[in-house]
Amino acid sequence: MTIAQTKTPVGEPIATGPTALDRYGKLQPPDLRYTPQVAEATAPIFEKVKHIIPAIEWPALAPTIHAINQLKKQRNAVILAHNYMTPDIYHGVADIVGDSLQLAIEATRTDAEVIVQCGVHFMAETSKILSPEKTVLIPDMRAGCSLAESITGADVRALRERNPGIPIITYVNTSADVKAECDICCTSSNALQVVESFGVDKVFLIPDKYLAANVGNKTDVEVLIWDGACEVHERFTAEELRDYRKIEPDVKIIAHPECPPEVVAEADFAGSTAHMIDWVKTRKPEKVMMVTECSMADNVASETPGVNYIRPCNLCPHMKRITLTKILDSLLEMKEEVVVDPAVADKARTAVERMINLKI
Ligand code: 13P
Ligand code: SF4
Repeated sequence: MTIAQTKTPVGEPIATGPTALDRYGKLQPPDLRYTPQVAEATAPIFEKVKHIIPAIEWPALAPTIHAINQLKKQRNAVILAHNYMTPDIYHGVADIVGDSLQLAIEATRTDAEVIVQCGVHFMAETSKILSPEKTVLIPDMRAGCSLAESITGADVRALRERNPGIPIITYVNTSADVKAECDICCTSSNALQVVESFGVDKVFLIPDKYLAANVGNKTDVEVLIWDGACEVHERFTAEELRDYRKIEPDVKIIAHPECPPEVVAEADFAGSTAHMIDWVKTRKPEKVMMVTECSMADNVASETPGVNYIRPCNLCPHMKRITLTKILDSLLEMKEEVVVDPAVADKARTAVERMINLKI
């Protein structure tokens, strides 16, 4: 497949350069025509996404990708993107991609003044908690998460009152208020190790009842739950996986641990989004099914030639609120800024840093 025409259908090719400042020092919206310069500058990106984005659609996307990549330099911004972002974002404009743990760690390392978080709100909040001096932007403030919405800080205080002495571990998919009330944070990459790090026989792992059950199945520690679930992963069923295996007996099935335990039991491997990607890159199975959000397979396919993907995906409506156009607006207008009450952030930071300092 080749890149579609490299000439703008209307007018003369425009000169591409940094977005101009008006006389008030405000950045002006860039010209979004598909010029030869834009085609040339974005050709290496198109190579990475051409398996999933048709050539005919590239002229509509490339100017925005190009403008974002120029603007982020002008703004001294870094784009942190979760593995569930669409391929135009993941391959086109992200500086760092990863799972929740990797993005949290990168937020502590970057020298940029501005972080544009392409993911959901709790991820942007985590970046702000770890880098309070930075401006953290999220392209759509409505990008939430069913897990984060299932519990409040007041719920955790009540849980602690009813269960004195039992450590409370919060999954990273929670608000800053919840993190501030918990002993330590964890992600799907390190939940088992965090649970075992206390050396006690009973802990709470909130709010994902399925992650907690999946971790509980791998340890002697009793893992107590909260009744939350990911609206994307809870929809997968073990029966669905068995049906796929009947049609594709050679398929390797890998699942996210937010799936119900009976789904994880049917899988050949379960792990965080980053661990799933590593598993495919290392094992290079001929056929693989990623039981998780839809964009994962799209993103990793160009990096794993020879691997065929069977795609029974469920879309995360919150992740999908983040689009190229909103990222561009975010950088142009420096919106929408994520703010965390400093007193809450200080307490939440302790929980997140405890996890990071475990180095697992
Ligand atoms: P990971 O930490 O595995 O990337 O998961 C985040 C998430 O929201 C999965 O639904
Ligand atoms: Fe939340 Fe599930 Fe979406 Fe992840 S996939 S952000 S856990 S709703």
